Amino acid sequence: MNIKDMQFVITGSGAGIGAGTALRAASYGAKIMLSDINDENGQSIVESIRAKGGTAFYKHCDVTNENQVKELMSEAQKQLGGIDVLHNNAGVHESMISEDLSLDTMSLETFHKVMDINVTGSWLCAKYALPYLRKSKYASIINAGSTSSVAGYPNCVAYGTSKGAVMQMTKMLAVDLAIDSIRVNCYCPGSIHTQMVDNFLDAAPDPTAMLNTMTMTHLIPRMGKPKDVAELVCFLASPEASFVNGAVWLIDGGSLAWRGTLDVLGMGDNI
Ligand SMILES: NC(=O)c1ccc[n+]([C@@H]2O[C@H](COP(=O)([O-])OP(=O)(O)OC[C@H]3O[C@@H](n4cnc5c(N)ncnc54)[C@H](O)[C@@H]3O)[C@@H](O)[C@H]2O)c1
Repeated sequence: MNIKDMQFVITGSGAGIGAGTALRAASYGAKIMLSDINDENGQSIVESIRAKGGTAFYKHCDVTNENQVKELMSEAQKQLGGIDVLHNNAGVHESMISEDLSLDTMSLETFHKVMDINVTGSWLCAKYALPYLRKSKYASIINAGSTSSVAGYPNCVAYGTSKGAVMQMTKMLAVDLAIDSIRVNCYCPGSIHTQMVDNFLDAAPDPTAMLNTMTMTHLIPRMGKPKDVAELVCFLASPEASFVNGAVWLIDGGSLAWRGTLDVLGMGDNI
């Protein structure tokens, strides 16, 4: 896949999958505008990319802040010369906001915050990236869904609801932006080992049992890595994916391909 010199904006790219994608895309020669609310993390990824000879810049951006989103896109124009790819990666699970994940008592504020960051933030970034994407020859928006976009999980009502919405937003945007030749796709990872998963496990009543539930359904008996997802994002962004549009792409180690756990296959000890 050829993404050399393509201009990426990646939200929430100071850590986890966003950072992994920034590093991977830069290693393929893409130019990256990183953004996050954690400036120290974001800057350190920029430095790693530059140390390897890549092109990267950083701008603080809370995806729920309209002005900051607007400024992020105009900074990308200024530093990179345009935007080919918007990677709507920034996202949170309720366990990163509150310890109270009970359906009975979780606060309205927590629910709103998850929806604001995951859904409204993705929409806002798409809105303000559009004028720049319209000028690109290989424009696309790539949204971070989740297996919880399509399947149920315990203690995930806000997160799963938001990720279902992100998946559906992907299709709506693909339809509306077809006229502009802007592709819009969504990928749905299973468990990828990042801070988000660690927080979710820490908040579970039995973290070991939860870890087993999360990995025992992966037909590839391990957790995913940020770079696994990064490779898919780079492909979806590339001209080689020019016929992929409005797609919901699972990247879950086979988790949703079946209804079982690895012990059924005699692989329970492989994790
Ligand atoms: N890790 C997984 O197993 C997994 C699975 C499915 C989907 N995802 C999705 O992938 C994306 C990245 O997840 P991750 O595991 O790398 O998470 P992470 O917590 O490791 O990283 C998320 C980054 O987003 C930033 N962020 C948080 N709120 C923000 C805001 N308001 N504006 C801008 N940036 C903000 C954080 O500072 C952090 O750097 C999320 O959308 C998540 O829902 C992750």
